[in-house]
Amino acid sequence: DITGANAAAEANEGGNRKVSTELIAREVKRRRTFGIISHPDAGKTTLTEKLLLFSGAIQLAGTVKARKSGRHATSDWMEIEKQRGISVASSVMQFEYRDHVVNLLDTPGHQDFSEDTYRVLTAVDSALMVIDAAKGVEEQTIKLLNVCRMRNTPIITFMNKMDRETRDPLELLDELESVLKIQCAPVTWPIGMGKNFRGVYHLLRDEIMLFKAGEERADGNVEIIKGIDNPKLVEMFPLEIEQLKMEVELVHGASHPFNLDDFLAGIQTPVFFGSAINNFGVREILNALLDWAPAPGGRDATVRSVTPTEEPFSGFVFKIQANMDPAHRDRIAFLRVCSGRFERGMKLKHLRLNRDIKVSSVVTFMASSREQVEEAYAGDIIGLPNHGNMQIGDSFSEGEMLQFTGIPYFAPDFFRVARIRNPLKIKQLHKGLQQLGEEGAVQVFKPVTGSDLILGAVGVLQFEVVASRLLNEYGVDAVFEGTSISSARWITCDDKKKLADFEKSSAGANLAVDAAGNLAYLASSGVNLRLTQERWPEVVFHATREHA
Ligand code: G4P
Repeated sequence: DITGANAAAEANEGGNRKVSTELIAREVKRRRTFGIISHPDAGKTTLTEKLLLFSGAIQLAGTVKARKSGRHATSDWMEIEKQRGISVASSVMQFEYRDHVVNLLDTPGHQDFSEDTYRVLTAVDSALMVIDAAKGVEEQTIKLLNVCRMRNTPIITFMNKMDRETRDPLELLDELESVLKIQCAPVTWPIGMGKNFRGVYHLLRDEIMLFKAGEERADGNVEIIKGIDNPKLVEMFPLEIEQLKMEVELVHGASHPFNLDDFLAGIQTPVFFGSAINNFGVREILNALLDWAPAPGGRDATVRSVTPTEEPFSGFVFKIQANMDPAHRDRIAFLRVCSGRFERGMKLKHLRLNRDIKVSSVVTFMASSREQVEEAYAGDIIGLPNHGNMQIGDSFSEGEMLQFTGIPYFAPDFFRVARIRNPLKIKQLHKGLQQLGEEGAVQVFKPVTGSDLILGAVGVLQFEVVASRLLNEYGVDAVFEGTSISSARWITCDDKKKLADFEKSSAGANLAVDAAGNLAYLASSGVNLRLTQERWPEVVFHATREHA
């Protein structure tokens, strides 16, 4: 009976589907994907290392730091990373803790602060903001927080370096609220600082965690005293306890109580005080990530929203990294899984090229090494090796035409004119810049008048990276000279005639075309930009643009 057999097969298939849906839901629920936002030197590397140590992902303190100290010069660190083969792996660190799978995405700072840093934040579900308590809110933190705000990403705050002389904690919270425009809900409160740092009081649990300096306690166990009115405290800290009680009263009265919904909406940030280098307060951060930070959520695509638990696989590329071997222009595309289950060897549709690709040599990222991936779920990052046919923003699925949105290019803050010493190399220059542009290393603008090539980046040291890669990989000796350009905005206008008028006006001389063919306005100053915007109200000036 053919119909019966079909029905049985279908029922069976239905059964498998159910098992698989449940499996996917379970795996999604236990995942957390986050990035760290901080200003250089606030302690991101130290904290990353401690998080990995606590989870048992690495055994040795100094592993992550060793990598960072290799970053003096671009060529140096490329050499070092090549030897160790850890560069790619360390961009994404996956580890397990308390039956959760945590993906920590590196947000490059210092030398390699670039658009990548921004774009990584479009691939996370939450962020950890690390602040040097002696310095407070710094420039890079503000920039990164603004990127988080584009998607209302929930943020957990860690006030680091309490073992040093810091600023007044209340003043720090005040600054966070006024500069970053985010409500602060202190969860722990410091008792003293610097040499007199005694520990923190947990406002929700009414208990005191005693501080002990030293790095050796990798488990983060601390002595706990229950209750702020515990007589033991007066004995131990006769000087500090009155001050603490006063501050706690103030904090209860003046600050916001922690509210999970506000945190998830990106309106409020829970604040923890500690000292990363002393392993103090780190476990509270890990627990907050697991208990409060969201599991992977839905993602918008052009045609519809995608739920992480739906069965068909989908994902998007948010970062391209050149492979370390300059002889082969291999690249690894970092793909964030948005739904379904990825299995090694499965066929994926590359939607921009409308072509099926078989991905057999995909890599996953464990904290300590680079491994072959067997399966991945929403929130996970997988690495797809390719020869240049994958770009930032590309979407992949099992067949459905879904272009994910919200993977922007950011208007650069720094500009250079590219010139070459040997004019015969002009073709190589264009090719090199095109490819480096696709990797997101730099943006290239061609002014509508003249023959110069303008390079734009969000981090100034990015130009050095590009110059050294042009030389080493493309044999092009280029110099980058200063320009009078101070900012760029992408231009759109619904009114074709107005746009034509704009192009013909004196402002039209400042127009350029980017590598993807989009029109951009290159302004000589903030004032110039503002005046031009005022004069042309029908023209829209965008600080970001979406993948073409
Ligand atoms: P980053 O990745 O955000 O740039 O910061 P990183 O972790 O490298 O930390 C920057 C400096 O701050 C380092 O000192 C680090 O040891 C120190 N640091 C981190 N956490 C704490 C803390 O809780 N208390 C104190 N007192 N210092 C902390 P460095 O001298 O620049 O480097 P190193 O020679 O110690 O490695």
